[in-house]
Amino acid sequence: MSIAIYPGSFDPITNGHTSILTGGLVAFEKVVVAVLDNERKKALFSVEERMEMIRETVLELGADPDRVEVDCFEGLLVDYCRKKNARVILRGLRAVADFEYELQMANMNRHLNEDIETVFIMANDAYFYVASNMVKEVARLGGDVSQLVPESVARRLRSKLGR
Ligand code: PNS
Repeated sequence: MSIAIYPGSFDPITNGHTSILTGGLVAFEKVVVAVLDNERKKALFSVEERMEMIRETVLELGADPDRVEVDCFEGLLVDYCRKKNARVILRGLRAVADFEYELQMANMNRHLNEDIETVFIMANDAYFYVASNMVKEVARLGGDVSQLVPESVARRLRSKLGR
């Protein structure tokens, strides 16, 4: 079975991420959405909350639950890939600004394990400028993010930020 690992911080998952996940499901039989569990990265949502939101989003998308696994990982991504018997890392590209960071990461991962390939999918252009950090800032300042994130995320952002 072709398996791709789709890693990220997902703090929280946005419609940009879901467009990558949907594209990933066209290309691969199974996609594992892997949330980075890193205590040093200050997050708004706990890893558990992030995983719950992703699971709710998968249901909202109507994706086949047998083809999407939601998990978390610590340590090196390539080690996690090996543990899951996956040889593909799935990442999304939005505007050109993503390119340098993604190139660095893909090359580092190739240096660490040359059997693992990074595959990029272009985000839906409607969400080219949607980033988790910006969504959190706009939500914190009272802006409407309901068009930019899945329904369950919008709900949790409202309750987390007391709106
Ligand atoms: O959504 P993000 O924050 O851009 O995702 C970054 C992520 C989680 C893919 C990256 O930080 C990662 O893979 N971290 C695990 C540690 C690792 O393997 N580092 C070496 C490759 S850069």
